[in-house]
Amino acid sequence: MAVLGAGAWGCALATVLDDAGVAVTLWEPDPGAASRLERTRTHSYLGVQIASSIDVTADLARAVRGRAMLVVATPSAFVRSTVTAAASHADSGAVIVCAAKGLEVGTHLTMDRVIAEAAPGFPVVLLSGPTFARELAHGLPAAAVAAARDNAPALATQKIFSGGRLRVYTTDDVIGVALGGAFKNVVAIAVGVSDGLGFGDNARAALITRGLNEMGRLAVRMGAHPLTISGLAGLGDLVLTCAGDLSRNRQVGLALARGEALGDVLLRLGQVAEGVSTARTGAELATNLGVAMPITTGVAAVLYDNKPPREAVAELLARDFRAERD
Ligand SMILES: NC(=O)c1ccc[n+]([C@@H]2O[C@H](COP(=O)([O-])OP(=O)(O)OC[C@H]3O[C@@H](n4cnc5c(N)ncnc54)[C@H](O)[C@@H]3O)[C@@H](O)[C@H]2O)c1
Repeated sequence: MAVLGAGAWGCALATVLDDAGVAVTLWEPDPGAASRLERTRTHSYLGVQIASSIDVTADLARAVRGRAMLVVATPSAFVRSTVTAAASHADSGAVIVCAAKGLEVGTHLTMDRVIAEAAPGFPVVLLSGPTFARELAHGLPAAAVAAARDNAPALATQKIFSGGRLRVYTTDDVIGVALGGAFKNVVAIAVGVSDGLGFGDNARAALITRGLNEMGRLAVRMGAHPLTISGLAGLGDLVLTCAGDLSRNRQVGLALARGEALGDVLLRLGQVAEGVSTARTGAELATNLGVAMPITTGVAAVLYDNKPPREAVAELLARDFRAERD
């Protein structure tokens, strides 16, 4: 197997596979970072050793050639370029498992669609769910879902990732899993803002629930099954990302509430917070489809139009009266 991307998530997934006895090559595009990782065997954010049995390389062709499965764990902004480059070296039957969560900026495409364009004909699986990399890397238990249109690649992904610490379910609802994983990060920014402003537990519960509602409306409009949004890749990941202090998207919201500038926050985090780009791309997608997503739109306005967070919350509360299911 090859894991493409040696950030927090790529290193954690490589560790899970290595512990299960799977031979893993971990690709890091930056040659300096790759040789540092190979030498030190540590990922400072995760706080774990990367086992010496995990082969680390900056050579993409060497990483993917002859592999049965390629796990893409780069930030979503690099999924297209990584998969395009990987596909030219990969075996035609290789399963591409995408572990990135987001929407492509500009095209508004979900990651499965991006991969289908970048590597036509390859089976694609989305692996998603409530899984903080650091907890998984430390051997704590978690559950996830493998989504694919055909059952065989989903089952293969389930089998290879399920072990001592991870329980993997399967589904054919690819769009539901893709949208749940993308939009929960946006709601987490909103919750971080609300918590940072001291708005309390009632407001947090309302944002999580209404966030789930707007994610669900968009997902169903795009063909998802409603139950997927209340599953691991929807509600499960939403609860984790909104409540867990390891969530970078929640941290972005908390920092914005303190009055920090977005650029400074992202620089300090030093790692991707997917909700930042998903807020704008998601708001554009919702507008194109005529689906009301007031929380997503509000987060985008705070992030990109300098709307004061308090004003965004006031606008949410002042919206026209409506029925809960609308
Ligand atoms: N961290 C988590 O707990 C977690 C859990 C589940 C899913 N995810 C998802 O996994 C994805 C990656 O997250 P992360 O936390 O590992 O991010 P990260 O910021 O730690 O990833 C950095 C890595 O991205 C790769 N990268 C950087 N520039 C690149 C380029 N130009 N081309 C290709 N690869 C490049 C490099 O390998 C780098 O080490 C995101 O979509 C995230 O939402 C993360």
